[in-house]
Amino acid sequence: MARPSEFLTGVERTFGEDEIIVSKTDARGIITYANEVFLRVAQYTEAEIIGQPHNCIRHPAMPRCVFKLLWDTVQAGKEIFAYVVNRAKSGDHYWVFAHVTPTFGPHGEITGYHSNRRYPDRDIVTKIEGIYQLLLDEEKKYPQCKEQMAASTAVLMNLLKSQGMSYMEFIFSLCSDSDGKHADEASLKQSEALCANA
Ligand SMILES: Cc1cc2nc3c(=O)[nH]c(=O)nc-3n(C[C@H](O)[C@H](O)[C@H](O)COP(=O)(O)O)c2cc1C
Repeated sequence: MARPSEFLTGVERTFGEDEIIVSKTDARGIITYANEVFLRVAQYTEAEIIGQPHNCIRHPAMPRCVFKLLWDTVQAGKEIFAYVVNRAKSGDHYWVFAHVTPTFGPHGEITGYHSNRRYPDRDIVTKIEGIYQLLLDEEKKYPQCKEQMAASTAVLMNLLKSQGMSYMEFIFSLCSDSDGKHADEASLKQSEALCANA
């Protein structure tokens, strides 16, 4: 499947607060599994999405540095939480709070990745939209992807430095500022485990 056009409708899609959008990829980021919620919200059939690179749902409002951080983190064998806006097939968009983890083989090697996405708190999305806009504005100053990535990464790192926080601390500080939804990492993981076993 070719990368979808960048046509955007401006219409936001939603999903239930008790639902989790799940996808799994191989070690290169090629989608190997998508649950029913993923297919419904992203508006793809299983046949269309399996075997596609995960950037097939990339939205142009996502700064490059967020995906660099995502890949650097999971390839290092660690997990990451991130706010992501995705583009559905029709050009609609949907915000998620994603938890991406590496999957390990019997000898400790990374065999793929797994992403669980929940419906995000609106107040946090508003804050994140502002931050992502700053990062995108920085990227727009440069013609090449590599320069754009370096520039927005530098802005993000400076922001974290000024707050005296790691990326994960920053993400969870946003969560605890709000009404308590997604308030801590442990309760999030617990609810993911419950959903996986349901
Ligand atoms: C498990 C997993 C889940 C991912 N989920 C998304 C996603 O929901 N949306 C997205 O745009 N990229 C996602 N990515 C990142 C993409 O692989 C890719 O880095 C990103 O879309 C940027 O694409 P680009 O380099 O073509 O700009 C995911 C990667 C992995 C490993």
